[in-house]
Amino acid sequence: MSAFQPPQRLFIHDVAVRDGFQIEPAFIPTERKITLIDALSRTGLAKIEVTSFTSPKAIPALADAEAVMGGIERVPGVQYVALVPNARGAERALGCRADELNIVMSASESHNRANLRMSPAESLRQFADIVRLVDGQAAVNASLSTAFGCPFDGEVPDALVLERVGRFVDMGICHVTLCDTTGMANPAQVRRLCAAVMAAWPELGLTAHFHDTRGMGLANALAALDVGVRRFDASLGGLGGCPFAPGASGNVCTEDLVHMFQSMGHDTGVQLDALLTQARQLPQLVGHPVPGQIMKAGAWDRRYPLPDFGGQRSEQVRLATSPGACGGGA
Ligand code: COA
Ligand code: ZN
Repeated sequence: MSAFQPPQRLFIHDVAVRDGFQIEPAFIPTERKITLIDALSRTGLAKIEVTSFTSPKAIPALADAEAVMGGIERVPGVQYVALVPNARGAERALGCRADELNIVMSASESHNRANLRMSPAESLRQFADIVRLVDGQAAVNASLSTAFGCPFDGEVPDALVLERVGRFVDMGICHVTLCDTTGMANPAQVRRLCAAVMAAWPELGLTAHFHDTRGMGLANALAALDVGVRRFDASLGGLGGCPFAPGASGNVCTEDLVHMFQSMGHDTGVQLDALLTQARQLPQLVGHPVPGQIMKAGAWDRRYPLPDFGGQRSEQVRLATSPGACGGGA
């Protein structure tokens, strides 16, 4: 398969209010989170990751998880997801009627300890407890952080990722997200690892979660698309990052990802203009500029009026617009 294949139906999950807001230094007021989620609910996104049920000491920015879950409007067709690090978090998420519990652990030992203060083995035990606790009341997705590299341990072997995914599948989890927590992945690696996971478990619902820390986010998304991935996490405006991963920065930007896929002819189900309206309000909301490109440049088909040369068009403009012109150079 190739990224230049016939149009595909792709599913976009926005994680800005969780992955994005969790690392913002200033607390985003609960009402403003709810307003943004309600607006995002009307853009055609398949899933919105609303919040995380973590320790408020670990992630104070999302200490209002219950209030946010309780305050949003549930639009039919959108799945409202909560990130969950342990069994306690799962109980809280179920209490708030999350559609999906996104349970999280790391592929690497050191990031699991830094982020969740437990060993991967303990995380796996908690996963098993959570699956029993959920017992069909909500969907369960397992997110595997540092699947493409760890800021502490370095390279993460493919075999370790496959082993961890195998443990999830053995527990009955059929939706898994491979997360590039600090943007260490490259497109060749993404192709190799995603293809290996899909070959081993063809029925698995696989999501790719990329950060653009090293400028490879969109290239990695294309590589994943190329080998058959159809679900993508992304963050409005390109916000995001794990507070317990040194050097972490924003996710691949939702509207830039949607724009790329749509301009290639794929169907994301998302209304780009509606997404851009929300993205353009983000700098004011978070109090700083955000990395998104399309919110600044406009979509590829944006056109500008020709400069007015006081009635006399320059030779350069005349040449560039004359029939048969093949472009005015760089
Ligand atoms: N929700 C709310 N509070 C929780 C909680 C949860 N899911 N899990 C633990 N706590 C509370 C405990 O009650 C305890 O509170 P206390 O100090 O008032 O008694 C405190 O947190 C410590 O509990 P403990 O079980 O010892 O947890 P810990 O300190 O080992 O931390 C985590 C473990 C997982 C709770 C914590 O590391 C965490 O929330 N990490 C979040 C990671 C994250 O979201 N990263 C970014 C996304 S990948
Ligand atoms: Zn992330």
